[in-house]
Amino acid sequence: MELFISFFLLLTLPLFTLIIRYITVSNPNNNNNNKLRPPPGATGLPFIGETLQLISAYKTENPEPFIDARVAKYGTVFTTHVFGERTVFSADAETNRFILQNEGRLFESSYPSSIANLVGKHSLLLMRGSFHRRMHSLTMSFANSTIIKDHLLVDIDRLVRRNLEMWTGRILLMDEAKKITFELTLKQLLSIDPCEWSENLRKEYMLVIEGFFCIPLPFFSLTYRRAIQARKRVTEALHLVVRERRLERERGVKKNDMLAALFDNDCDDVMFSDDEIVDFLVSLLVAGYDTTSTTMTLAVKFLTDTPSALAQLKEEHEEIRARKGASLALEWDDYKSMPFTQCVVNETLRISNIISGVFRRAITDVRIKDYMIPKGSKVFASLRAAHLGQDNFENARVFNPWRWQKTSDSTNFMPFGGGPRRCPGHDLARVALSVFLHHLVTRFSWVAAEDDKLVFFPTTRTQKRYPIMVQRRNVVE
Ligand code: HEM
Repeated sequence: MELFISFFLLLTLPLFTLIIRYITVSNPNNNNNNKLRPPPGATGLPFIGETLQLISAYKTENPEPFIDARVAKYGTVFTTHVFGERTVFSADAETNRFILQNEGRLFESSYPSSIANLVGKHSLLLMRGSFHRRMHSLTMSFANSTIIKDHLLVDIDRLVRRNLEMWTGRILLMDEAKKITFELTLKQLLSIDPCEWSENLRKEYMLVIEGFFCIPLPFFSLTYRRAIQARKRVTEALHLVVRERRLERERGVKKNDMLAALFDNDCDDVMFSDDEIVDFLVSLLVAGYDTTSTTMTLAVKFLTDTPSALAQLKEEHEEIRARKGASLALEWDDYKSMPFTQCVVNETLRISNIISGVFRRAITDVRIKDYMIPKGSKVFASLRAAHLGQDNFENARVFNPWRWQKTSDSTNFMPFGGGPRRCPGHDLARVALSVFLHHLVTRFSWVAAEDDKLVFFPTTRTQKRYPIMVQRRNVVE
């Protein structure tokens, strides 16, 4: 018997050691982690930490030195102290992927209270666990490529053309792009076409978004006070729409939009309340509106500053126009025959980083590289730092859409995040951008009306809303 046990141990010991090693590495709660230290770094002044350095860097056209200096000193994962809290900052693409993919297991999304109060407690952004998974997939099911192809593309194309038809002389591109994306989103969510009501709602919305990046104390901040009041008016307006649509539905009227999908999803005997539906709609409008419109504006800015890319883009779209003859509306096959446009869209997303990164909180002790991230720590996965890291992309800080003709490797490229919270609007945003660029370059030539600078705080935008002078071209109509 003894011999048998010894023989058994001899055979199984290597396997056993391997298992123990695996558990040691992958179990974040393992005692060995106690020996590990948090990532190195500096936490700056008491209370404010390094917040002022970060803000002043991000208010310039070149915020990179803030990260570059710390990466050079401490490596791609370091500790800083910003916005009132010690924060582990990752400028490393692999670590970012790890953080995003472990949502719900090791990390949880964590939004500043200013944003959380304004989007509402039933928003997708704040949902957790299985309910989040269900609602995320419901959102995806209403913004995936099949739905866009069969249903949404027609509206996107029509609304973009409708807006561009009104352009003349000097326009503020940022404002125009916002109008277009708001109209697209409202159509997709609620089947509402542009009208006075939607334009008023949009103005209220802009006030809500302004409140995202200020101190969430109504007493101290007029912007925040205005945002809270505007949110109230937005939710009242949306409540009316939801109520009306419920009545319509009882009368047998069917619509094909996100609201109808929410009504139809009343499964498991769980019906969404109007409050839940309204919060959900508010957050979708928030998530898609500023992001897509800013990307549209910056694509045009980068193209204006890179004439050879603009010339190649025009060529691609003129070929599509010539092929289509008198047919104005873009179809799915047209969208699928825009390879260079996709390079421009990728490169714009890579270099502009509208969402510069995402905040998470460690829900348990987590081992990353040779460091230990203690439970409760705030973590910032910087998508921007990974996209602009010289090790990840050659000449990373130069707008070069041709790079995407050579590489399809997207491991370092995560403009829409990743894991369970990956942006459900990613296909929609790409299609909206491509359709917009098509109609823009085939209808207009333009020049920048003024020198305008990019800034990155509180959000990525151009300082003067990118004024351009447009001139109509003769198009095949
Ligand atoms: C260029 C345009 C866009 C960019 C760069 C972008 C980027 C992102 C990123 C990085 C995230 C992940 C946030 C996180 O992990 O915490 C996200 C989430 C989200 N995006 Fe987008 N987005 C864009 C357009 C849209 C559009 C058009 C929609 C509308 C359907 C949308 C809806 C959402 C929603 C609802 C979430 C939250 C998902 C969740 O928490 O489960 N986005 N987006």
